[in-house]
Amino acid sequence: MTSTATRPRGARARAAIAAKTLRTDRWWFAPLITVVGLTAWVAYATVRVYLHNWYWVEDFHYLTPFYSPCITDRCVEGAAHFGRILPDWWIIPEAAFTLPFLLLFRLTCYYYRKAYYRSFWLSPPACAVPDGHQTYSGETRFPLLGQNLHRYFFYAAVIISLINSWDAVLAFHSPKGFGFGLGNLILIGNVVMLWAYTISCHSCRHIIGGRLKHFSKHPLRYRAWTFVSWLNVRHMQLAWITLGTLALTDFYVMAVAADWIPDLRFIN
Ligand code: FES
Repeated sequence: MTSTATRPRGARARAAIAAKTLRTDRWWFAPLITVVGLTAWVAYATVRVYLHNWYWVEDFHYLTPFYSPCITDRCVEGAAHFGRILPDWWIIPEAAFTLPFLLLFRLTCYYYRKAYYRSFWLSPPACAVPDGHQTYSGETRFPLLGQNLHRYFFYAAVIISLINSWDAVLAFHSPKGFGFGLGNLILIGNVVMLWAYTISCHSCRHIIGGRLKHFSKHPLRYRAWTFVSWLNVRHMQLAWITLGTLALTDFYVMAVAADWIPDLRFIN
């Protein structure tokens, strides 16, 4: 609380308000929907990762992003583009090299921080609504101090997006050679959205346009920064859209791999 000694001259003491908040709108709706959405997504992803099944469509070389790159001894031959270098233990996901970095990239993302600080930690749940905790140390102490590593997870996410892009290219396949089906459209759509989310990252924006004194002397970086800034204001939407495209891509590959549905083929 501001003491009388430090309060600016003329400023009044805060009114003593007994109510927790004076807001009468549905301020709790956004945190609630965030909890429901993120919990559902994490539950789906966890189940899928530990199913250890239905991740690869042999005929069309579709590989779900949840299992890419497939690097355990359990991986079928065609799906293991980078070799099978980890043992076949159920606790080890097929994509053991990428999933931890993807998780850390999203956990430390500026948007997701806002989302889960407000919804899971109620810190604070909304503007003009009190914090759910007595004290607040922000990101100045362990473990939240680690949020500053986000810029490094961004580099890992770029590599993972490249791998996902390669998977989408390899999927132009059929038993006759080249092929193109609905699965390709879904894989490509997912990769485009993943790139949009990754490039719209605040760290990327800083890498592209930060530490410059004069944009006029760096016209190419200025153009790139303008584009990244345009995407950046849509970062929240892209964060949610990519959760959707990832789940959709995974579910489609699972459904085709399990023979629940056939792939809709346009060519071969
Ligand atoms: S700020 Fe969200 S991914 Fe970097």
